[in-house]
Amino acid sequence: MRILGIETSCDETAVCLIEAEGSFNASFKFRILGNALRSQAATHAPYGGVFPNLAKREHAKNLVPLLKQVLQSRKRPGQGFTKPLSRIGDLKTIGKILEREPELFETLEEFLQAHERPEIDAIAVTHGPGLEPALWVGVNFAKALALVWDAPIVAVNHLEGHITIAAMDTKRGLRNPFDAVLQDVGMSGRLQSFEFPALALLISGGHTELDLMPRWLEYKMLGETRDDAVGEAFDKVARMLGLPYPGGPEIARLAGIAREKGFTRPNDRSHSVGRAKPLSLPRPMMNDDSHDFSFSGLKTAVRNLIGGRTLTEVEKMEIAREFEDAAADVLVAKTARAVEEHGARSVLVGGGVSANAHIRLRLAEALAEAGVKLLVPVPELATDNALMIALAGYFHAQNRDFVNPDILRADGSLRLSYKI
Ligand code: KG4
Ligand code: ZN
Repeated sequence: MRILGIETSCDETAVCLIEAEGSFNASFKFRILGNALRSQAATHAPYGGVFPNLAKREHAKNLVPLLKQVLQSRKRPGQGFTKPLSRIGDLKTIGKILEREPELFETLEEFLQAHERPEIDAIAVTHGPGLEPALWVGVNFAKALALVWDAPIVAVNHLEGHITIAAMDTKRGLRNPFDAVLQDVGMSGRLQSFEFPALALLISGGHTELDLMPRWLEYKMLGETRDDAVGEAFDKVARMLGLPYPGGPEIARLAGIAREKGFTRPNDRSHSVGRAKPLSLPRPMMNDDSHDFSFSGLKTAVRNLIGGRTLTEVEKMEIAREFEDAAADVLVAKTARAVEEHGARSVLVGGGVSANAHIRLRLAEALAEAGVKLLVPVPELATDNALMIALAGYFHAQNRDFVNPDILRADGSLRLSYKI
């Protein structure tokens, strides 16, 4: 089955075409036929966070060029577009679907006049959660394509995309010389084997939640953040330290240097902020009975610690290290406790923060001790991408879990599950 995945929930515009077969077991395999992603990070960087309307505009501008890139890799002899574009008359309806995205309509119309229908069996699009104006662009784009290409739509929950990609064992195939511009073409993968019940730990810029997964596609929320998401805390603390957006990778970099240079050995106070005592930040709700999280107090503690002073480079590294340690401590403690309470055999970690090497290591150590399998995506697939949407979409398409385009809506606060 060929699935076209579309992702526009935040500040990454992404399109991916995969070919997949098999079910939720060793029979499953996929191959990327085309993949293109454009990050808007640089556009949003001056604002220190994502601006929804700016994101919407960028998605509208990027989608058609990315789709073109994805499909161009299919133009090899014998593998080109097969079915003729049959319903060009529907352009009027598309105009209606895209009436709030006139620029997208224009580029799409041009694209559709020039290209035949590609071989696809379904379109998988993120319909939430995320920034609603941004989500709508992807959803409307999917509706328009579905109409012209007469393809069914799978509405994908972004969080399920993150979980699905965590379960994949990905291999980099040989890059096809025809596809030199498309990074991941030829990449293939299978499902890792693991046992249920599993836990899903979702750690991203918009979410921090723990879900119990009794089986595939079933989630029961155990806990979530009561305030900031952990990625949001990384981004805000990075900003306080004068680091660029997105802050997660920057904090990780500085924290890594601090650890490597041993700035924070317990007896070495010479580099500590304020010099009087070693740097220490709180671990909010770490020993709390619930499975909920809280990261806004940690962020405020950093603000108080800085107290408006200009920090030295060493102080910044120390704060980054202590902040990352605090976040890791909380995530590890909460996950380990939920594992124990629910007898989980596996933990799937998804979302941008799962790219964090220190957090991965700490989780791996704790779960190995408990004999529980840890599944994390390769770092470059931890942040938002369309492969994860195509993959999650595939499993729903297999169940013929399609959505009526007329009632499909973007839902910024879409949930994976409700608290039990
Ligand atoms: O999943 P994602 O790409 O977008 C959302 O769905 O939110 O996650 C983005 C978040 C940002 O907050 C970013 O700072 C964080 O993931 N992030 C990291 C790292 N790489 C990305 N946080 C910590 N360490 C990293 N290496
Ligand atoms: Zn995400």
